[in-house]
Amino acid sequence: MKRCVILAAALLAAACNTPKSAQDRLTVNDARINAIIAQMTLEEKVEMLHSKTNMSSAGVERLGIADINYADGPFGIREEGRPDGFMSAGWTLDSATFFPTGSALAATWSEELAYKYGSGMGKEARLRGKDVILGPAVNIQRLPVGGRTYEYLSEDPVLSAALALEYTKGCQDEGTAVCIKHFAVNNQETNRGSVNAILSERTLREIYLKPFERAIIEGGAMSVMPAYNKVNGDYCSENEHLLNEILRGEWGFKGMTVSDWGGTHSTMGAMLHGLNVQMTGSNYLGQPVIDSIATGALTEEMVDEKVRQILRVRFAVKPVPADVANTVMTSQRECQQIALDVARKAVVLLKNENGVLPVSKDVKKIAVIGQNAVLKVQSGGMGAGVKALYEVTPLEGITRRAGADIEVVYAPGYRNYARRMWGPQELGPLETSRIDEPADPELLAQAVELASSADLVIFFGGTNKTIETEGSDRKDIKLPCGQEELVQALYEANPSLVSVLISGGPTDLQVLEKVSPAIVQGWWNGTEGGTALAEVLFGDIAPSGKLPFTFPVKLEDSPAFALGNFPDKNVGGDLFTLMFRPDVLAMSPEERQAFIASLPQPESRYTEEFYVGYRWFDTKEVKPMYAFGHGLSYVDFTYGPLRAKAGSNGVKVSFNLKNEGNMPADEVVQLYVRRVGSEVEWPVKELKAFRRVSLRAGESRSITLEVALDNLRYWDERASAWALEHGRLELLVGSASDDIRQTAEVSI
Ligand code: BGC
Repeated sequence: MKRCVILAAALLAAACNTPKSAQDRLTVNDARINAIIAQMTLEEKVEMLHSKTNMSSAGVERLGIADINYADGPFGIREEGRPDGFMSAGWTLDSATFFPTGSALAATWSEELAYKYGSGMGKEARLRGKDVILGPAVNIQRLPVGGRTYEYLSEDPVLSAALALEYTKGCQDEGTAVCIKHFAVNNQETNRGSVNAILSERTLREIYLKPFERAIIEGGAMSVMPAYNKVNGDYCSENEHLLNEILRGEWGFKGMTVSDWGGTHSTMGAMLHGLNVQMTGSNYLGQPVIDSIATGALTEEMVDEKVRQILRVRFAVKPVPADVANTVMTSQRECQQIALDVARKAVVLLKNENGVLPVSKDVKKIAVIGQNAVLKVQSGGMGAGVKALYEVTPLEGITRRAGADIEVVYAPGYRNYARRMWGPQELGPLETSRIDEPADPELLAQAVELASSADLVIFFGGTNKTIETEGSDRKDIKLPCGQEELVQALYEANPSLVSVLISGGPTDLQVLEKVSPAIVQGWWNGTEGGTALAEVLFGDIAPSGKLPFTFPVKLEDSPAFALGNFPDKNVGGDLFTLMFRPDVLAMSPEERQAFIASLPQPESRYTEEFYVGYRWFDTKEVKPMYAFGHGLSYVDFTYGPLRAKAGSNGVKVSFNLKNEGNMPADEVVQLYVRRVGSEVEWPVKELKAFRRVSLRAGESRSITLEVALDNLRYWDERASAWALEHGRLELLVGSASDDIRQTAEVSI
């Protein structure tokens, strides 16, 4: 098989000919910007390089340049905080729409919905006078236990990139800039402030950078948040390779980078290696910059360049006048509708034996069991919390939908785990401080009694935002708080049992799988989550979500665990959390720096390389509990034979898809590519294209999926360039990564 390097070394290519990209829109005001910079004092310029308040950086009032206002987070405009921190400002008009969290959005596999979602975020940001949202959060879900799995989209770069791109476009089309985060390789919360992620260039390029690359080049993302961690030795906020060579050099990024909060580490590092704005504080990009210019270590031209990049964003995003911002409630009907549309398509039916679902017409009494049925998941989890205007819980959704003819009874079943970092430490009556708390005999007995009296039991288990949160990873993926014991007892009392998981990441389903004939992944599904879930359970709509990540049978099966790459051996400190610890707050800047430097320097070795998620499970022939891309419907779809073609532009495959059922339903068709007789190492198969298709009952349609040649390349380590391996490709089209329906072979 012939290998041919189709691009020259990437750096060389960048130097000669930066690709035309959506980024070029940012430079249209450069002449005006240069004129403004010429009028600014050095002090005014440096003021722009660091935070003004916890969520803003300065403009220049004298010259009519407004401050830049930032807002968390990816799933809803965060509650207004006080200027000096995250404590609530106590406003009344700042309740926002809570959109389904990242993994739920990704479960829709819908570019159209990702665009609408981004536009909803962009609209509500404007109502609050915000210029930049701190999102989307697009890191690859490398670890099932990852604290931010729920914030991130998928374990797959193609799916993540497609959704990141549309979110970016949707948001920026509304006049709000995105700050895509966390650049890059932020795949764990353990030691996130100091961990050094060590990985090969091929893995970096093919897996971890892809979502950023598309959002920046094709979507014109205006700002980027370097992550807390280090990549191959250097902090992301001062990483020459990531920020200057790849982001600005190869991808032609013209906007600004904004460090993660507390993620700036030095004046020279930040100034020389690509950071524009220190968030928060000014100890590195404040007075020390002026001092370094005085000594000749830095030049004013360097500052000018940074200010130019910031002003490009400022000019591209119109400031919202003070008398217009915050005059109406942030959450808007139109955005609540988007949240509902996303939630409806996110619910994943993992299993449905004996047609337990949809709820049969004969069911007259439903026992809803489990605290997660009443849990509100809008707030918590730190930066990604939302003060939602309202949130329909699963129990509310079910009760409303059941109406007068069906009796719905509820029992909590277990106590929810409720460790608190801040705020009151006392536990409520249905809370526990132990995640491994065995089932409570009284709550269990009460639940079993209700279950035996009902026609159908719907058990709500999963995690919560204390368990899955920014700042820490889960220890394991076990269902917490005696949920397994409870669900077994429920099954014995009444085998007509549906289990719904309310969680952002995967859980260990070994016990549930044995006792529950139907299992649904319900996610943290936003403000209308309960409404959407009820519609699916009762069969008003067919479920159509597909897993954006693999559910392993057990944690040890997943790649980083199987290879002993995680957990890290050293326990450092979470920088963000440290920033708020009273003893650390009391330190002088020098003492704090020395203290942080004294923390253990943990490493995370990515020796699984690009065998992330299903790439690992497929290649190593490890059977997952539920595979990437899996999700059942209430109808069957048939896939006709493939008509496949390969040409100079890439690969094209067409086939007929038919809805064989008696209700409208969506299918997500997935195209995977397998190399035949390859010389280069590849995973057994990789997702290359997908499409959500809506079909009426009995409708059949011809579907075409295309893959550009560029998207079939691999990163050639020896040539330091993208390369194309010519040869045979098997095209695998199906309904999930483990449910391939048709295949065809082409040569490229
Ligand atoms: C998080 C970011 C967030 C920022 C501001 C950091 O701790 O990592 O995702 O945007 O805080 O809240």
